[in-house]
Amino acid sequence: MDAMRPTDWKRVVDAASAAALEHLESLPDRPVLPAAADHEAILSLLDRPPGPAGIDAAQVVGELASDLRPYITAQAGGRYFGFVVGGLHPAALGAEFLVSAWDQNAPMFAATPGVAVAEELAARWFVDLVGLPPQSSVGFVTGGQMATFTCLAAARHELLREVGWDVEARGLPGAPPLTVVAKTGVHATVPRALRLLGLGEQALIRVGCDDEDRMRPDLLEEALAAIEGPTVVVVESGNVNTGSFDDFEAVADIVDAHRAAGNPTWVHVDGAIMLLAAAAPSMADKVAGLDRLDSWSTDGHKLLNVAYDCGIAICRNAAAHRAAMSVTAAYLEQDTCARDPLDWGPDFSRRARGVQVYATLRSLGRDGVIELVERTTSLARRFADALSASGYAEIVNDVVSNQVLVRWQSPDGDNGRLTDAIMAGVRAEGTAFFTGTTYRGERLMRISVSDWATDEDDVDRAVEALLRHARLNIR
Ligand SMILES: Cc1ncc(COP(=O)(O)O)c(C=O)c1O
Repeated sequence: MDAMRPTDWKRVVDAASAAALEHLESLPDRPVLPAAADHEAILSLLDRPPGPAGIDAAQVVGELASDLRPYITAQAGGRYFGFVVGGLHPAALGAEFLVSAWDQNAPMFAATPGVAVAEELAARWFVDLVGLPPQSSVGFVTGGQMATFTCLAAARHELLREVGWDVEARGLPGAPPLTVVAKTGVHATVPRALRLLGLGEQALIRVGCDDEDRMRPDLLEEALAAIEGPTVVVVESGNVNTGSFDDFEAVADIVDAHRAAGNPTWVHVDGAIMLLAAAAPSMADKVAGLDRLDSWSTDGHKLLNVAYDCGIAICRNAAAHRAAMSVTAAYLEQDTCARDPLDWGPDFSRRARGVQVYATLRSLGRDGVIELVERTTSLARRFADALSASGYAEIVNDVVSNQVLVRWQSPDGDNGRLTDAIMAGVRAEGTAFFTGTTYRGERLMRISVSDWATDEDDVDRAVEALLRHARLNIR
């Protein structure tokens, strides 16, 4: 077909959906990581620069699918336990497919009213689901990193406003200092957000943690006693290593006292992994006090299992959120009394990524979300029980959510070598995918159960493979 002829949508959609379906249906059985993921091989396969004449779109899509097929990781399958990576709920996929086909640039209601309202409702439902203050504002951003950035930008606005400084107008040179307090194990995206906000990593004071990497409230109190002026405190709902929750009630009490002493203070919750726990009554004791805090970031693309990319930034103080993010230009069409997405995140143009949140929440229902939180936690415990019963491994953390930290025990004392050998062996045979970490100086294996598709059989297959490779590598 001549490249200049009108596109044949059906042929393109058929080519893409046939390849997509083949991929999705292969997930239960296919190797998680393609066997020969060689950079040079992939490069030479794909490196076919566009020539002067174009190529039929359906042909390109078909070739892309077959070229990349062996090199696509089964992240949306039930046996991917690396990093913290969510799967793909069917409702999210369907909505994302439509969002791509609709090609809506979604910053303003006036331009794309349908998706703007779907996002407005997704925001409202999500806030309600996790029990946050109903007036909270919501921005759909690319991920946890940008959600934290957005919330901390709102914090920066509000705290400096309270001491008479307009940071949006004047920037930071000459501004009153703003101190940020977080724990020693704070996720790397928090200092990175401080860099992006011009506050700098040196604004960060780190306080110590307990054995589960929860911020110690007594040390927070001590740190705040030495701070005067605008203060941000960052806590966590779901630690990347232990899955633990900070003591939000204690933090809220301590911060109330700091405020009462005349220090404008904002508490941000990094809930990338487990803000969703707040939807589950069985987790109520873990998240008590969460709703007393000021902002919350989370990832739709983790436990909610919507497609990459989707982060969610939520602020109690909608005016601060909007003041930090909003933008205007004479040629735009704003202030239509409807919610304009560009007021709530750092993007100007963007895809309507919140639509998949709308679809997934409707499809799962409240009970489905609760079940997702509880099932991933109980599957994490299944891993922990089986591995510790094997005699080859110890579980380092208290498994209170979907994260497990594993210490493989080598008789020769070289646990790090054994850990890496086991993970590499399981990865190479394709049965499952695990990643490691260095935690308090020790090489450990992490398990993250974040996929709606993971079931008991997936866990048992993964455990069998892990133990087989443990036996093979013990010397
Ligand atoms: C605790 C925590 N915060 C923030 C992030 C960053 O999220 P994203 O990768 O979506 O930007 C992660 C990612 O794993 C995380 O585990």
